[in-house]
Amino acid sequence: MPPSRPDGSVIQELLEVVHDRHRHIDDGEVASYIPALQRANPDHFGICIVSTRGDVFEVGDSQVEFTIQSCSKALVYAHALSVHGRAKVLERVGIEPSGDAFNSIALDSSNRAFNPMVNAGAITTAGFIEGADFAERRAKLLRCFSAAAGRELTVDETVYASEAETGHRNRALAWLVTNFDRMDPATNMQTLDLYFLQCSVRVTARDLAVMGATLANLGINPLTKENVFEMASVQDVLSVMSTCGMYDYAGEWMFRVGIPAKSGVGGGILGVVNRQLGIGTYSPRLDARGNSVRGIKAYCDLADDLGLHAFNFMNSGSHFLKHVI
Ligand code: DON
Repeated sequence: MPPSRPDGSVIQELLEVVHDRHRHIDDGEVASYIPALQRANPDHFGICIVSTRGDVFEVGDSQVEFTIQSCSKALVYAHALSVHGRAKVLERVGIEPSGDAFNSIALDSSNRAFNPMVNAGAITTAGFIEGADFAERRAKLLRCFSAAAGRELTVDETVYASEAETGHRNRALAWLVTNFDRMDPATNMQTLDLYFLQCSVRVTARDLAVMGATLANLGINPLTKENVFEMASVQDVLSVMSTCGMYDYAGEWMFRVGIPAKSGVGGGILGVVNRQLGIGTYSPRLDARGNSVRGIKAYCDLADDLGLHAFNFMNSGSHFLKHVI
């Protein structure tokens, strides 16, 4: 545990040490199953921490844009719960870890997607972003993500087109859940398109950290003070991120890191230390499960050095904010 210093410089120094320690790791591959994702620079590596008081610490390529991909699933779930409430959302999508890969073609014993973090569940959850037409739904999605990031976000149109062109498995998942009345057959393909769009929103590691801090701060963006998500939804979102956010690595992640998080094949990982911090990392080299290799290493170090694991003896009573920053 680093000694406390009221100005928070200890955090900045730690970020620099962690970044330096892992920036030469070249294990893992940039995602290529969606052709446009291959354009990412494999050497990019950024880390950012944002506290619920609004302190920002960042290092490396923390302001390089990439597509949010599956990190978006946590935000759409938060939006769905905020607007429609827990009961309605649970009718359509479950909360059990699947133990399977993100694109697994499997439903639970009630014929719902296992959880909102795997593709089947995320596509179902996108159905809760309602509007008169696609343009209205697109605008609502971008408004929500932008509010969580505290800046106007845009869509990578090339990745979006590439997702739609190659997303036949996702199309199959949309029809599978439609077969069990979890999606409306009149709008399911429009909803699928919205899912492709949500994955294609451009963000930075800093944006992910601000989004994480918004969840950590009871749904209120700590930089803009905008109330983005209902307070009651945050507990549910963080629970599901804890158990399902890292797919078939979720158990080991919770054991080693203990921070509710969501990864994306763009190379981002969005983490939340409840009531204290948001964390964003970006490095597009992925392991076989689709999680960022350097991102995982950075989170392991930060969790260890700062005692951020949910069950660490130091992580109680907003310890971090009171004693470290
Ligand atoms: O559904 C897909 O294929 C992607 N657009 C999102 C997948 C993703 O990020 C999986 N996560 N690690």
